[in-house]
Amino acid sequence: MSSQLKTPLYDALIKHVKKRTISFHVPGHKSGRITDSKAKFLQQALEMDLTELSGLDDLHEPVGPIQEAQTLLAELYQAPKSYFLVNGSTVGNLAMIMAACHENDTVLVQRNCHKSVLNAIKLAKARPIFLAPGYDKELKAAGGVHFETVKQAINQYPEAKALILTYPNYYGMVYGLKEIIDEAHRQQIPVLVDEAHGPHFIIGGPFPASAVTLGADIVVQSAHKTLPAMTMGSFLHYNSSFINQNILEDYLHILQSSSPSYPIMASLDMARHYLAGYTMDDVQYLVKEIRAFKSELGEIPGIKVVGNGDPLKVTVQSQCGLSGFELQMKLEQVGIYTELADPNNVLFVLPLLKENQQYPLKDTALKISEILKDFPQINQREEIHSEPENISELAILYQEMDQYKQQTISIDAALDKISAETVIPYPPGIPLLLAGERVTKVKLQELHKLIKTGARFQGGAFLKEGFLNVFGGLKQ
Ligand SMILES: Cc1ncc(COP(=O)(O)O)c(C=O)c1O
Repeated sequence: MSSQLKTPLYDALIKHVKKRTISFHVPGHKSGRITDSKAKFLQQALEMDLTELSGLDDLHEPVGPIQEAQTLLAELYQAPKSYFLVNGSTVGNLAMIMAACHENDTVLVQRNCHKSVLNAIKLAKARPIFLAPGYDKELKAAGGVHFETVKQAINQYPEAKALILTYPNYYGMVYGLKEIIDEAHRQQIPVLVDEAHGPHFIIGGPFPASAVTLGADIVVQSAHKTLPAMTMGSFLHYNSSFINQNILEDYLHILQSSSPSYPIMASLDMARHYLAGYTMDDVQYLVKEIRAFKSELGEIPGIKVVGNGDPLKVTVQSQCGLSGFELQMKLEQVGIYTELADPNNVLFVLPLLKENQQYPLKDTALKISEILKDFPQINQREEIHSEPENISELAILYQEMDQYKQQTISIDAALDKISAETVIPYPPGIPLLLAGERVTKVKLQELHKLIKTGARFQGGAFLKEGFLNVFGGLKQ
């Protein structure tokens, strides 16, 4: 077992930078020497932005420091094989799903998944069967998928080539994943987990168990979301007797750049090192800091701290008449920028602090208390939420969509038609309407509510004007 104290890729990169070599290779900024005069803040970052030079290895054929860094990662997570990703969990989801299924294969997929999961199914031309998540009344948001729903889906579609789950959700909520994995494996169905928000779960308590530890076949994690890694830096862990590792690697080669970013990869090496050095004292310090922050927030009348699961996620629910979006905007006015807002909540992603690292949590709570001091507490109305069918299919499959004409009609006229566009309130990036899905009354109500409360959307270019694209008849 190699020492987790090592940082092979980061060291190789620094060693090269210190050599002050003369660059006659890509990239064109020549280690930051050739830049626009305005780009002075970029210069330092560019120094480390190198390419596959002698001693720096190659992500696509690793034999040197990248291989060593990936082996250290696999050892930390106790996975047979782990990979660095330079295009986020997005590319991990694409590769794992495309490796697991082919055209017309049935796949079971948790409905409140990220759009990259849906894009992967679309590229694979597979047939998705959507499993509805439960609804968390306290958080007023979709949670995890229930064991009974998975069991029912497996009974109905025993031919499924994969079960694709999201764990935890954006708000850090988890569910009984172990039981679900065991059930799927009994039926020879591999389990693919988008654990974008849980790379730190490997620390163990007080964090929930990681899907890697729970036996999932492939797990994708956005290291950049909760670990000190650069944006787009992610991990993929493989541990499957169902999915061919060579096919998975082929897809990683196809989908990732042939010029992967060294700063991103080195930051993954350092994030793994940070995590491996996380001690019990760090855990205790972090827990104490979070408890104090939550208790200070709990004293503020206009908000309520809700949800539990991942301690790094603190969800604050408005109790003062403001929507979550409005509350988020008020916080931004005093320099507090949060991860997301929804109609009711604002989500804070806390840092994975080590002992004695300071973060202005107390100051944040004070500022929030100051902003909300003139807002009276208002009893919240009981939320109307949709109860989607437990198991649902697309009305038109991805591979058939090209055969249909499209038309733009008023949102209300779209009732019972088939949506030609995917409408995703973002964040949290969970599709409300999928292209190919029938527009039901409940979905229309939800759409109106989100528009009214000021949600932002991806897709649905004309929603704000009151229009939606739907499929019409077959093309001639
Ligand atoms: C659940 C989930 N999966 C995947 C992704 C995509 O991750 P990345 O930004 O690392 O590509 C996100 C991004 O927000 C996400 O929330």
